[in-house]
Amino acid sequence: MKFFVDTADLAEIRDLAQTGLLDGVTTNPSLIAKSGAKILDVIAEICSVVDGPVSAEVAATDYDTMLKEGRHLAKIAPNVTVKVPLTVDGLKTCKALSAEGTMVNVTLCFSASQAILAAKAGATFISPFVGRLDDIGQDGMGLIDEIVQIYNQYDAFTTEVLVASIRHPIHLVESAKMGAHVATLPPNVIRQLYNHPLTDKGLSGFLKDWAATGQSILDQ
Ligand code: G3P
Repeated sequence: MKFFVDTADLAEIRDLAQTGLLDGVTTNPSLIAKSGAKILDVIAEICSVVDGPVSAEVAATDYDTMLKEGRHLAKIAPNVTVKVPLTVDGLKTCKALSAEGTMVNVTLCFSASQAILAAKAGATFISPFVGRLDDIGQDGMGLIDEIVQIYNQYDAFTTEVLVASIRHPIHLVESAKMGAHVATLPPNVIRQLYNHPLTDKGLSGFLKDWAATGQSILDQ
C-alpha cells in the first residue's frame, strides 16, 4: 500500500520524506491557498523533494481550459499528476491527458458509479473522499469496499483507488484491509500511525532496566 501525504506544506513534506515511507503527495486548491505559495512554485519544489506522484489540481471547470491548465501543470516535472474534478468536463480532460501519457487523479468522488466512469476515462487514480461522506452520515469506508470490488472484476480497469479525506488511523487500517492501493493522509494522521501507549510504556521499562546494567553496546 502506498502512502501519500495530503498537504502543500513544504516543511511537513520534507520532514515526512525523511522517514523513507512517503510515496507521493496530494494537494488541492484549499491546501495551496493555505500554503500561501504560488502553485507552480510550490509544486515544483515538492517534486524536487518527492520522486513519486505529486497531485496538482486544475482550477478551471470547462474542458478547453482544464486541458490547457493540465498540460501547463504537467510540464513542471515528470511526476506531476494532474488532478481533475469528477465532472463531465473533468473526465474528458482525464481521457485526453491520459492519452498523452500524463498521470491523472480524478478527485471529489462520492459514488461507485463515478468511480466506474473515472476508470473508463483512463484515470491513474480515483480519489473517493471517505471523511466527507462520514461527515454527512454516509458510509465512507463502504464506498472504498465497493470500488475495490468493482475494479477487481475487470483487468482493463487499471485505475488505483486512492483513499482521500482520511481523518484518523482507522480509515487507513480499514482501507488496507480492503486492498485500496493508496491512502493520502494529513501529516498529523501519518504521525498518529506510529503511536501506541504500550510501545511508550514498554520502551521506558527497557531503558530503565538497561541503564541498571551499566552496559554500553558500542563499548563491547
Ligand atoms: O485532497 C483531497 C482530500 O483528501 C480532502 O480532505 O479533509 O478536506 O475532506 P478533507
